[in-house]
Amino acid sequence: MIDLTQRAAALRQALNYHGYLYHVLDAPQISDAEYDALLNELRRLEADHPELQTPDSPTQRVGGWVAERFVKVRHPQPMLSLSNAFNAGDLRAWRDRTLRLLPPEVGQTLTYVVEPKIDGLTVVLHYDNGRFVLGATRGDGLEGEDITANLRTVRGLPLTVPLTGDRPAPARLVVRGEAYVNVADFQRFNQLSAAQEARTYANPRNFAAGSLRQLDSAISAQRPLRVWAYQVVALEGAPALATQWDALTYLRDLGFPVIPLGEHVRLFDDFDQVVDYVAAWEEQRQALPYETDGLVIKINQLALYEELGFVGKEPRWATAYKYPAREVITRVLDIQVNVGRTGSINPFAVLEPVAVGGVIVRNATLHNADYIAELDLRIGDRVAIKRAGEVIPQVLRSLPELRDGAERVWTMPEKCPVCGEPIQRTAGEVAYYCVNSACPAQLVRGIEHFVSRGAMDIEGFGIRQAELFVQLGFITDLAGIYYLHERKAELLALEGFGEKKVANLLSAIEASKERPLGRLLNALGIRGVGAVGAETIASHFGRIEALLTATVDDLSQIGGVGPVLAGSVVDWFSHAPNRRTIERLRAAGVRLAAEAPAAVGPQPLAGLTFVITGTLEGVSREEAKILIEGAGGKVTDAISKKTSYLLLGANPGSKAAKAASLGVPTIGMDELRRLLSA
Ligand code: IVH
Repeated sequence: MIDLTQRAAALRQALNYHGYLYHVLDAPQISDAEYDALLNELRRLEADHPELQTPDSPTQRVGGWVAERFVKVRHPQPMLSLSNAFNAGDLRAWRDRTLRLLPPEVGQTLTYVVEPKIDGLTVVLHYDNGRFVLGATRGDGLEGEDITANLRTVRGLPLTVPLTGDRPAPARLVVRGEAYVNVADFQRFNQLSAAQEARTYANPRNFAAGSLRQLDSAISAQRPLRVWAYQVVALEGAPALATQWDALTYLRDLGFPVIPLGEHVRLFDDFDQVVDYVAAWEEQRQALPYETDGLVIKINQLALYEELGFVGKEPRWATAYKYPAREVITRVLDIQVNVGRTGSINPFAVLEPVAVGGVIVRNATLHNADYIAELDLRIGDRVAIKRAGEVIPQVLRSLPELRDGAERVWTMPEKCPVCGEPIQRTAGEVAYYCVNSACPAQLVRGIEHFVSRGAMDIEGFGIRQAELFVQLGFITDLAGIYYLHERKAELLALEGFGEKKVANLLSAIEASKERPLGRLLNALGIRGVGAVGAETIASHFGRIEALLTATVDDLSQIGGVGPVLAGSVVDWFSHAPNRRTIERLRAAGVRLAAEAPAAVGPQPLAGLTFVITGTLEGVSREEAKILIEGAGGKVTDAISKKTSYLLLGANPGSKAAKAASLGVPTIGMDELRRLLSA
């Protein structure tokens, strides 16, 4: 038993650590398949020995807890909001007001931290002795709602801090942060959702809000939520923090996701620099992967916060600089539809081209027929559009007062624009679907998903190839991908398909046969089954045969699988063409079973000892230590003959000279990365 306990702890630690590398540092050291294998091993262990399960186990990230309602939580102190500034004058006025409240000698020493104001939702995270124990929404500022189960599923949110054992965990820590989703993740979800379940969201913020406030945490687990930590609300059992900059550094070193310090979070000692930065940021923010509605300017010296106090709900020690929303008026020339992977019919507006924030916008999503009805949108209407997150064009409202009578009411077409078969609406669903499961548009989308990164990950295969091969009749079902090699001569005859390209494509297809079952299940495009659900189902059943005969009851037994999802899976496997696809996949040699568990990650630095000195490029020393230790290396403080490498940053101390005298080789972050990926 003791061995199993140790194994479970080792797996938890490895998974937490590799999850951190992947989701927070964006520098994974093991492949998705290796990660999945570790996770599966831990899942099986916990299933066989439920007493080994802990609340901070990474298996809990898939959710499964279904609440009847959200319980109220009182915040340790009021969660204030922020005053606003809309121009440089407002900003200077804010600064002058704070200066008037402070003795001049203190005013002269003020420094300022400027942070992006991500457009998400406040979350309040509680850690007792380093364990995540409670997470709440902001609510009315005094009381929020307990959404712990949902927050546990957020991949970048640490369940245990610190990640390495050498820094003590604070006895109590309460952190304020913002939960949000990246614009690309939001778009991807909406596209898939339009094609699958039809619930789409108007913007990333609504999407994040909807995802956080799910009673069923398994649904939150499927959403690409992120969090960034920006404030230490309470800290006990650790040295007090003097500045906001220290607080952010501390949070980062504990393993929280923090927006890169020095890059997008900046420290200024001169207010003119703050004003300049605010002006420059308007351009910069457009390149970010997430939506921001401005910047937050905070006084750095935390000791002054109490003295400065607040007015109403707004602290005097910070203010938010808000940029004007970019909204323009244009005309809807037409409303058209495209066909999603599951045959969903997705309407979009064809616009009179117009520049918004430096980009020409020609189309805007209209989500679904209900949305068009809600907007009372007609073809020919003038509309206000906005690029949400400076990326996705959205129709905000129609302007009926500008109509001249020539506008036309739009109705959903009766026939699929691609295959001509009828379009129908399923009772209780928002979306309309093309009834023809062999519709080429569906097959093309289905292939696009099948070959994508989270699915079978076939390099060199994308929507263009899918369109081409379907159009030429080379592929008539998903399994057809694995029979393309029979058409090698025809492929070589196609324009742009040389010997090398065809060889690469075919070998990428061949390699994908070995993907684990969870990936394949995701790839099949079963309505409602995403990467996480597929993984859960695969690790439960182990082999596809078991799924072919599984009932709704069997599936509903699995934590995280609700009756709707279970029904959808059973339905999919009950259709003859789908069963034929599975048989053809089997005949082609595609793996239809889960894989054996792997050892705890590769250890390229095993046996090597490192000493770190100076300021490293792009990572903190803490991060570098985590990277090294995770790869089997050791980090020590003192240099000796036994030291394998000195990891050297800018402005090193005496260690650099000592290393030289002892003949210890010196490396930088680049070389370290090379060693790690060896
Ligand atoms: S500080 C009293 N920092 O903006 C401290 N807030 O309008 C107030 N927000 O409710 C929060 N990014 O949800 C702070 N870097 C940031 C922020 C941020 C986004 C949100 C937060 C808050 C709202 C205030």
